[in-house]
Amino acid sequence: MKQRGEKFTCLTAYDACFAQLIAEAGVEVTLIGDSLGMVLQGHDSTLPVTMDDMVYHISSVKRGNRGAFLIGDMPFMSYASETQTLENAATLMRAGAQMIKLEGGAWIANSTRLLAERGIPVCAHMGLTPQSINRIGGYHVQGRDPRQAESMLAEAKLLEESGASMLLLECVPQTLARTISEAVTIPVIGIGAGPDTDAQVMVLHDLLGISPITPKFVKNFLKGSDDGIPGALRAYVADVKAKRFPAPEHCFN
Ligand code: KIV
Repeated sequence: MKQRGEKFTCLTAYDACFAQLIAEAGVEVTLIGDSLGMVLQGHDSTLPVTMDDMVYHISSVKRGNRGAFLIGDMPFMSYASETQTLENAATLMRAGAQMIKLEGGAWIANSTRLLAERGIPVCAHMGLTPQSINRIGGYHVQGRDPRQAESMLAEAKLLEESGASMLLLECVPQTLARTISEAVTIPVIGIGAGPDTDAQVMVLHDLLGISPITPKFVKNFLKGSDDGIPGALRAYVADVKAKRFPAPEHCFN
């Protein structure tokens, strides 16, 4: 799809029921994200999410899924050492993930290579990485500083060279997201990264307007739907593909 210049869509799901609705709406990729720690469990960060939580939700989504590609998040500190990374990634793949997602830049290059060599596709999550919230100090846009932007671009290339099959950019300026998407051959999924990435992802609860906080890059697709939740999901797919979402008001410059 990237080679054809066709946008694809990704949404988070955590259970069988929504996994089915999402796939039936035409969403190509379902992410079982550790955002479940915040939207389902009510924590103020993703740090408390465990491997057991991820296995439970990935296997639930797998049962409801109707053909979407499934990416599962490796939770906080589950990829701190090589042995842990391999064992935990294998556990998530056995639960039903078809790709696993790690947060980080250059420091995850080695894990990415180890996993890719062993047949586990990796999505590298860069920019705002919520598992590092205590180092970052808040949910801020990343890569506004030219030096930080340059190192993010170099890290994206390094991760592709290390075997990453996908990148996810969260909360980065639109121009940087475009530069990175053009500089790598693997697909780049964006959230709060503007309209020029190869795909978009949203947290399901944000799309439905039921999250307690509404970041700038979020749109409530349920408002205005003439067919409830299925209609909202189809509107998201249509708007991403037609490049109507994200609109300028959802982007960081
Ligand atoms: O955990 C998650 O849902 C995510 C998205 C915000 C991209 O990583």
